[in-house]
Amino acid sequence: MTKYKNLTIVRTVAEFREHVNRWRRNGETVGFVPTMGFLHDGHMSLFQRSQEIADRTTASIFVNPKQFGPNEDYAVYPRSEERDAQLMDEDGVDLLFAPSVNEMYPDGGVTKVSVPGLGDILEGEYRPGFFNGVATVVTKLLLQAMPDVAIFGEKDYQQLMVIRRMVKDLDIPVRIEGAPTGREEDGLAMSSRNTYLTPEERKAAPVLYQTISAVADKFRQGERAPELIQWAKVELEKAGFKQLDYLEIRDSENLKPVYDASRPARVLAAAWLGKPRLIDNVEV
Ligand code: PAJ
Repeated sequence: MTKYKNLTIVRTVAEFREHVNRWRRNGETVGFVPTMGFLHDGHMSLFQRSQEIADRTTASIFVNPKQFGPNEDYAVYPRSEERDAQLMDEDGVDLLFAPSVNEMYPDGGVTKVSVPGLGDILEGEYRPGFFNGVATVVTKLLLQAMPDVAIFGEKDYQQLMVIRRMVKDLDIPVRIEGAPTGREEDGLAMSSRNTYLTPEERKAAPVLYQTISAVADKFRQGERAPELIQWAKVELEKAGFKQLDYLEIRDSENLKPVYDASRPARVLAAAWLGKPRLIDNVEV
C-alpha cells in the first residue's frame, strides 16, 4: 500500500470495500469515479464533482480487457498510473482502487451483464460486446465499493444511459450522476485516446464537435434529420475524416430516433480520422 499526502492506493477488492465501509459507518458519504486512467481534465472534473456532492472521493483505474474487441487497442491503451496517482493526490481524491486483471477476473470471470437494446445500437453496433464489458465491470465496481454516488461523463453519453438503465434494472443502490464533457479550447472533447492523433489529425479533430453542434442548432431551428446528417457527412469528409460510423439525432433518454425537437434530444457521432476514432455528442 503506497501512501501519498491524501491518497491511499489499494489493489484488492477487500481493501477497497473496507475503506468505503468504514467511511459510510462513520456517517460520511462516498463518491466514486471509475476510470481507465491516463487522466485528463475531463476526468479531473468528475473528481471535483464528487468532492462537491460527497464527503469522500474514491476512484478506480482499471483498463478493462472485457470492453476491448480483438482488433482494438487494449495492449497499447495509454497507461500512466504514477502520474495519475499524483494528480489524484493533488486533487484531493481519498482512495484509488487499482486492481490487476486477476483481482478483477479471477478464473477469467464468466458472468456477464448486458443491456440489450440500449447496448446494441450506435457504439454497440460498431463495437460488438463493448457495452457488455462496460456493464459487467461497472456492476462489479459498484457492488465492490457500494458508494453513495458514482459519477460518469456525458462524453460517453450512451455509456451513461446504459449504466443508468442497468443500475435501475438490477436495483443497485447507488445514485448515478452525469457530468458535462470537458473540452479543449478549440472544442475537441478530451479523451485519453487523443494521444493517438498526429499533429495534422489534431488540427482537424475539432471539426467533429463543430459539425454536431451545427447539426443541433439547425435541428432546433426546424431542419430535418436526414438532410442534416447528409450535410454533416460532407463537412466531415472535407475536414479529412475518413469514415463516419454514425451521426444520429436521438431521444436523450432511450436513444431512439427523433423526428423533431419537441422532446429532449442529443446528436451523437463516431468518426475515423485515419487510425484514431473519435466519438462526441451534444445536447440539441
Ligand atoms: P474512461 O474513458 O477512462 O472514462 C472514465 C470516465 O471519465 C467516464 O465516465 C467518462 O465518460 C469520463 N470522461 C472521459 N472523457 C471525458 C471528458 N472529456 N469530459 C468529461 N468526462 C469524461 O469510460 C471509461 O473509462 C470506462 O468505460 C469505464 C466507465 C471506466 C468502465 O471501464
